[in-house]
Amino acid sequence: MANILCIGAGYVGGPTMAVIAQKCPEHRVVVVDMDGAKIAAWQSDQLPIYEPGLKEVVLSCRDKNLFFSREVERHIAEADIIFVSVNTPTKTFGQGAGKAADLQYWEKTARQILQHSRTPKIVVEKSTLPVRTAEAMERILHSHDRDLPFDVVSNPEFLAEGTAIPNMQNPDRVLIGARDTPSGLKAMQAIVDIYAHWVPRERIITTNLWSSELSKLVANAFLAQRISSVNSISALCEKTEADIQEIAHAIGLDSRIGPRFLNASVGFGGSCFKKDILNLVYLCDHYGLSEVARYWEQVVRMNEYQQARFHSRILSSMFNTVAGKRIALFGASFKANTSDTRESPALNVCRALVEERAEVVLTDPYALDNARIDLGEDARRVIFEPDPYVAAANAHAIAILTEWPLFADLDYEAIYRSMAKPAFIFDGRNILNHRGLFSIGFNVQAIGKPPLIHPAR
Ligand code: NAD
Ligand code: UGA
Repeated sequence: MANILCIGAGYVGGPTMAVIAQKCPEHRVVVVDMDGAKIAAWQSDQLPIYEPGLKEVVLSCRDKNLFFSREVERHIAEADIIFVSVNTPTKTFGQGAGKAADLQYWEKTARQILQHSRTPKIVVEKSTLPVRTAEAMERILHSHDRDLPFDVVSNPEFLAEGTAIPNMQNPDRVLIGARDTPSGLKAMQAIVDIYAHWVPRERIITTNLWSSELSKLVANAFLAQRISSVNSISALCEKTEADIQEIAHAIGLDSRIGPRFLNASVGFGGSCFKKDILNLVYLCDHYGLSEVARYWEQVVRMNEYQQARFHSRILSSMFNTVAGKRIALFGASFKANTSDTRESPALNVCRALVEERAEVVLTDPYALDNARIDLGEDARRVIFEPDPYVAAANAHAIAILTEWPLFADLDYEAIYRSMAKPAFIFDGRNILNHRGLFSIGFNVQAIGKPPLIHPAR
């Protein structure tokens, strides 16, 4: 039996530890956080994040071998293995502001571990970190006069929100990096043994520390690059009457390209893609690789362009003014099946329309509370409405910003009747039946598709 601790009870710490506890009943898993309200939520029926299947997993092992606590120091002292899953946002101040990772939470954790440890520990990097962070971690952990062994292992997390539980239960791969020393390899084996409870051994891959750390940034950069690539072509489609979905299908059938992650959209969001690419850009600049840095930076710039293009298109289609017009935004989360609104393109479009003095109504099945917080001051100028039919009533336009399946299943004939005319739909996720909507009477503009506009009568 091992005492496993995870510091950070967020989108990664909570779900990953719940699955580890469920799959390894002989281990004791404790998740701690300095945010007392979050811990209280993990202990309640209202978990702090919405994630399909999460509640069932948590309820199956909570208070048996899975515990949530605020007592960071006591649990550090008791732990054999410590996963560190704290936030590593983009730095907003000083050197590297806007690009480098802000490692203050990370470093604070390293110092807490050092201060409260009396027995040997394996410290596992679960957060996404710049390559060679383990070296800094090791230096902090070994800066004491007690002769306490610490091994730092990298085990980046690849789960995507909305599918966190199936991603954890059936991962494409688990990556573990460690030092090539007897104690490093022993520590690596201890982490392999945890995952081997349910992950086939050939899908658990082991590398050196730096490859593991850097693989995580590169995986996110490649995924985001695919979206920016398809989005860049969507702009060309809109000029040439080619159809981005037909193109994605055609190229995706090439097995070297593959069909997944080719959905053109209003842009990628989420807490990680942008921050991790900017971190990669910062690292490349730091090592004097300016061309490499500029190459990856363009993935983020293209994403900003795609979002700006989307709201400009709303404006130009609606006779260059939306001031005083009600516009219903369908979706606030950065993708479907999550309540997370961090870096959500929906909120960027919302802000741009508020700036144009539109009467913006935001609807979403799970993410309105987070949207209200993230919009800050702008929230006062937005109407939050859980019912999409009420949101659309009297609106001049609807914009689909999150691909929640429920938005595809609404009664658009009834919605059309309730709207101001001419009625517009802007499909930022290409989830609707555009021809069907056009025949109802809507003017339809979708990403990377020819517009369907009724002639003036
Ligand atoms: P999060 O903000 O949801 O959770 C981090 C938690 O750590 C917060 O609750 C915070 O209060 C806590 N924390 C920070 N410092 C602490 C300390 N010293 N002691 C106790 N608690 C502390 O972040 P997240 O989305 O879970 O991301 C965590 C890391 O995982 C990041 O590096 C991120 O890049 C990476 N990651 C995230 C995802 C994802 O889908 N969100 C996926 C893969 C990797
Ligand atoms: C992403 C990666 O997929 C995970 O492997 C990684 O662990 C995680 O980042 C992380 O490090 O945080 P996530 O951001 O949760 O996961 O969700 P994705 O499914 O990757 O979607 C990201 C964004 O891209 C969303 O806004 C989504 O709508 C958009 N997207 C995705 C598209 O616009 N088109 C696509 O084809 C796919």
